[in-house]
Amino acid sequence: MDRYAVVGFPVQHSWSPFIHGMFAKQTGQDMQYRLLEAPADQLTQAVMVFFAEGGKGLNVTVPHKQAVVALVTHRTPRAEIAGAVNTIAHHGGELLGDNTDGVGLITDLTHNLHFALTDARILLIGAGGAARGVLGPLLEKAPNLVQIVNRDGNRAEALAQEFSKLGEVHGGNFAAAGNAPFDLVINATSAGLQGKVPPVPAVVLSPQTLCYDMSYGKQDTPFVLWAKECGVQRAELGWGMLVEQAAESFSLWRGVRPDTAAVLDAVRHRSLPQHK
Ligand code: ATR
Repeated sequence: MDRYAVVGFPVQHSWSPFIHGMFAKQTGQDMQYRLLEAPADQLTQAVMVFFAEGGKGLNVTVPHKQAVVALVTHRTPRAEIAGAVNTIAHHGGELLGDNTDGVGLITDLTHNLHFALTDARILLIGAGGAARGVLGPLLEKAPNLVQIVNRDGNRAEALAQEFSKLGEVHGGNFAAAGNAPFDLVINATSAGLQGKVPPVPAVVLSPQTLCYDMSYGKQDTPFVLWAKECGVQRAELGWGMLVEQAAESFSLWRGVRPDTAAVLDAVRHRSLPQHK
């Protein structure tokens, strides 16, 4: 049976085995998908042993997405641009590194949430790995503007500079958000893990703004709660991005595209708080 896994640290809470298990059942693929826990100092060894023993593919999650870039033999252009790999495919002794996070977000926004990215004014909050991974695919859709804001404004400026050939992108600290509403506001920070909302002023929101948090959880994140309190009609958690990036990895490995709607429903349902 073809073997796949997700490598990360920690990894036990990953949804990937559940999602890929559903995709496999739905498309009739004979495959196994497991968790592979490896701390940073054991990453190279864990990845090499997995493929030496015939493993077909890996997903890569925190904190290893940047580190595995050096472990693969080839990279897709989108992995190269993102500077991060979340999917590895093993073909004829070669390891291809891809990055499906960006396309996962784009598919969720455009296909599931029916948001038109072209000509949109986009505020991207955060300038770490999560923001970098989605910036290229966002700019490819020719938005009117991507304004990056970050606690450390220099980091946002440097990121904007690096991507400036791909479209209209600017970076700065939170004040650089200005005082006009955006069509789309994406939270790509890890502030929610500390129970915090990144301090962007409420003037960046209008009731029509789509607010999107790239993180997800059983309950609304602090960012989603804040957006709702500000009167935003649509504030979304990142479940769709999670399922869509997985579908893209699955297609690369198996050559079949799974139907994500049923899986997204199941993931959302299973993630609801259980009431006794
Ligand atoms: P990731 O790969 O998840 O993006 P990262 O590279 O550590 O992780 O980046 C975390 C992002 O969250 C950064 O943009 C960080 O801002 P700084 O670059 O200024 O550190 C942002 N972040 C983390 N905690 C935050 C908080 N409490 N408020 C605002 N931004 C925060």
